[in-house]
Amino acid sequence: MKVVGFSGSPRENGNTVFLVETALKQLGKHGIETELIRLGDKKLEQCTGCYACVKQKQCSIEDDFLQLFQKILAADGIILGSPAYHSSITPKLKALLDRAGFLGRWVTNEMKAENSTYQWQGTAFSGKVVAPITVARRAGQNFAFAQLLLWATVNDFIVVGSNYWNVAVAGAGGKVDAAEDTEGIGIIAHMADNMAHLLNKLKQ
Ligand SMILES: Cc1cc2nc3c(=O)[nH]c(=O)nc-3n(C[C@H](O)[C@H](O)[C@H](O)COP(=O)(O)O)c2cc1C
Repeated sequence: MKVVGFSGSPRENGNTVFLVETALKQLGKHGIETELIRLGDKKLEQCTGCYACVKQKQCSIEDDFLQLFQKILAADGIILGSPAYHSSITPKLKALLDRAGFLGRWVTNEMKAENSTYQWQGTAFSGKVVAPITVARRAGQNFAFAQLLLWATVNDFIVVGSNYWNVAVAGAGGKVDAAEDTEGIGIIAHMADNMAHLLNKLKQ
């Protein structure tokens, strides 16, 4: 079993990376293979709304997206981490999720004629598990967290919870100090335990 953790921060070794790694290390204790992917060094254009993926079943933009989409497809679970940027996830993570969500829908469904009703056949992610993690200096974690939940729940993922929202408080003045948020770390570790438990049940 494999879980891929994505950090949407442009900062290579910032708070988001630390928190996503915290979750991945905890998953590792349960024998789950993990991989951390930093989006900061990836070339990821935003979705152009060309709708080419509806028919072609692939994205028309040539950048690092395909490699990342394949990482999601090959994983049993993913963790989506982002700092709050004005209460939102970062543009790069949004670009990945817009393109993956749209392509993931159209690889398993066909566009219907106008006025006909959809009976969606799942998505490329059906049955996969996901958990969001967000971090901010002061406020906005929950808005970014909600963005990630909305993406997950429209795309047929199974969302893993914890004993609180997986949000951390860190980064005043750009500090990398998420290690000091011991409550946040405990919540994220508990989420990882839940994810491992769920993945094991799903594999039975
Ligand atoms: C452009 C920008 C916007 C930010 N917006 C918010 C915000 O809305 N609320 C907040 O509390 N912190 C905000 N921050 C602070 C970051 O969320 C915080 O420092 C976080 O820990 C950075 O994570 P990272 O180290 O993974 O990059 C912002 C930082 C930047 C650079």
